[in-house]
Amino acid sequence: KNFALIMAGGIGSRFWPVSRTTYPKQFLDILGTGKSLIQNTYDRFLKILPKENIFILTNESYFDLVKEHLPDLQDHQIICEPIMRNTAPCIAYGTAKIKLIDADANIIVAPSDHLILDTENFVEIINKALDAASKHDCLITLGIKPSRPDTGYGYIQYSDKTLLDNLHKVKTFTEKPSLEIAETFLASGDFLWNAGIFVWSAKAIAKSFNQFLPDIAEIFSEGEKHYNTPREKEYIQAGFQKCVNISIDYGVMEKAENVYVMPADFGWSDLGTWASVYDLSEKDYVGNAVINSEKVMMYDSSNCMVNVPSDKLVILEGLHDYIVVESNNTLLICPRNNEQHVKQVVADVKHKF
Ligand code: GDD
Ligand code: MG
Repeated sequence: KNFALIMAGGIGSRFWPVSRTTYPKQFLDILGTGKSLIQNTYDRFLKILPKENIFILTNESYFDLVKEHLPDLQDHQIICEPIMRNTAPCIAYGTAKIKLIDADANIIVAPSDHLILDTENFVEIINKALDAASKHDCLITLGIKPSRPDTGYGYIQYSDKTLLDNLHKVKTFTEKPSLEIAETFLASGDFLWNAGIFVWSAKAIAKSFNQFLPDIAEIFSEGEKHYNTPREKEYIQAGFQKCVNISIDYGVMEKAENVYVMPADFGWSDLGTWASVYDLSEKDYVGNAVINSEKVMMYDSSNCMVNVPSDKLVILEGLHDYIVVESNNTLLICPRNNEQHVKQVVADVKHKF
């Protein structure tokens, strides 16, 4: 059977001040669609799987938020982590639990905070990948044609060798390269961005965990006897303490030999920064985008984005290429292309206040 593990335990600090540790990006309706990103993600998977086979991996502090956003889910479908250890441990835990339901399961692992515009195409590609994963011992990732040397992504160098139609053998996988390296990757033309959406059999990923992250693998397979019993929580509490903090990209994808990529084009954006939201938003003839805001007046201003949901009157005069975002009594004003720094700002704010 096929299962989905939707990862929803990150804090999305680049969307500050709208996203907060207490209300991270996956629970926001960033583009104003009427649904949060996690709700849209869940809806997409309902087109592929029965709802009983969809599981959310999240931090226990987000349990109530997940329930509120996805009231259809039963409690056991929300798998909670006691502490944040990045994506490798949570995937190992989720996989171990799915293996108890079906040792021959195929699993889609996906982020909860991305935008995908072409659902039909997404469904088609995932079904193809599931089919391939059920027949071959391989780790499949979806690849997006890169448009800029972004250092926030994984880069996949693929070969012409294919396992099946449109499923290419991966030569190298480089997570978050430096700008210089990202520029050479982009120029070479044979790289794709890692979309962060993975498809594999439970057996294939378990084997890779054993090989590359044996300590993590052992913790979660040892736990099997406690899962779905009253001892699970206690076991997991101690287990996560022992896990190193590592993402699946660094921990497995960079190292494994049996990685394959399926190039995909379904209107993907990881909505990683306010700049990417600006790119996707509707703009007026001088490039200003106003979202979630009521009263905005602009004079001699262009290519700005305003997102001030309070009842404040916002006036921009002579401002170009800026982002103006207010939330939770915090106002952020910064140049549109400078906001990878927001992560650093958040760290400073936490330190100071
Ligand atoms: N449950 C859980 N626990 N989820 C987590 C945790 C955790 O400790 N940490 C992160 N997540 C969730 C996030 O909420 C997000 O949905 C997903 O896992 C990916 O984590 P990010 O922190 O957003 O990763 P990234 O954006 O830096 O990098 C990944 O995605 C890029 C594409 O957007 C990598 O896979 C890159 O290679 C990829 O290019
Ligand atoms: Mg991300």
